[in-house]
Amino acid sequence: MRPRIFVTRPLPASTLDLLRAECEVELHPADSPIAPERLAEICATRRIEGLMVCGARVTQQVVAGATHLRVVSNVGVGYDNVDVAACTRRQIPVTNTAGVLEETTADLAFALLMAAARRVAEGDRYIREGRWEQWQWSLLWGADIHHQTLGIFGLGNIGRAMARRGRGFAMRILYHSRRRVDAAVEAELGATFVDRDALFRESDFVSLHVPLTPETHHLVAARELSLMKPTAFLINTTRGKVVDEEGLAAALESRRIAGAGLDVFENEPRIHPALRGLPNVVLAPHIGSATMATRSRMAALAAENLLAVLAGRRPPNIVNPEVYS
Ligand code: DGY
Repeated sequence: MRPRIFVTRPLPASTLDLLRAECEVELHPADSPIAPERLAEICATRRIEGLMVCGARVTQQVVAGATHLRVVSNVGVGYDNVDVAACTRRQIPVTNTAGVLEETTADLAFALLMAAARRVAEGDRYIREGRWEQWQWSLLWGADIHHQTLGIFGLGNIGRAMARRGRGFAMRILYHSRRRVDAAVEAELGATFVDRDALFRESDFVSLHVPLTPETHHLVAARELSLMKPTAFLINTTRGKVVDEEGLAAALESRRIAGAGLDVFENEPRIHPALRGLPNVVLAPHIGSATMATRSRMAALAAENLLAVLAGRRPPNIVNPEVYS
């Protein structure tokens, strides 16, 4: 009997074909998140062995009822949507798509940095609203990027890709992470390790690249924002809950900091109402990895991970390797 799997988004046809060659595939046909209760019901009643999830929440309830479940393959690098502990207790491997989306996500982080500093979105609105009448000396002055200090919080793959972009703009690169990286990596990136507070105090741009965990929830709140220079910018392309959105909105409104570029929000797709009205924040709808090439690679890698586990092999990207020990 071929294993039954459930896919929570309409992924590319080439990926679905790959899956259909090995499995009975059921699909949530809408490009919108499936409710955890519905997912739990499907897993429990249809003997689902493999779940391929993209943004869907795999809760304790989903895992508990999915008595045939053998693998959760997350289409994305961040897996805070999956109750990994519940999967591990059941010896269910959880996989992600690390390794194929880092450069693309760093592209967007740098794009937000540039857009916020050079007021690109404001300029676009200014023209569309028919307000541009003449060249003006004092129009839309922004902040320099080149030769400024880029502070990277979290020097994983995306943080490193961000550092390389900063180097291309002759920026001074500071970083803070749970663990200091090898001297060789620091030398290659030209990155200097500093403590948390120094990162906020000294950077002209602070870019966040940590996963969402209980430790990183509201990592940036009023205290951290108060350490930042009034000329500094905050860039967030990781997870919204890493930042206290209320505190950030207040800091932007009072010009405690100069601006922000945000791709992620605390309660997506809801956005703190104050942020919508502020000119000094550039908003993007969680599109860090959204290019055709990268999304295709993510889908293909997620399929490879899922099929490997169902075939009894160790998957390329495992996030709870302890299930194999
Ligand atoms: C990721 O890969 O984590 C993206 O944010 C999509 O959720």
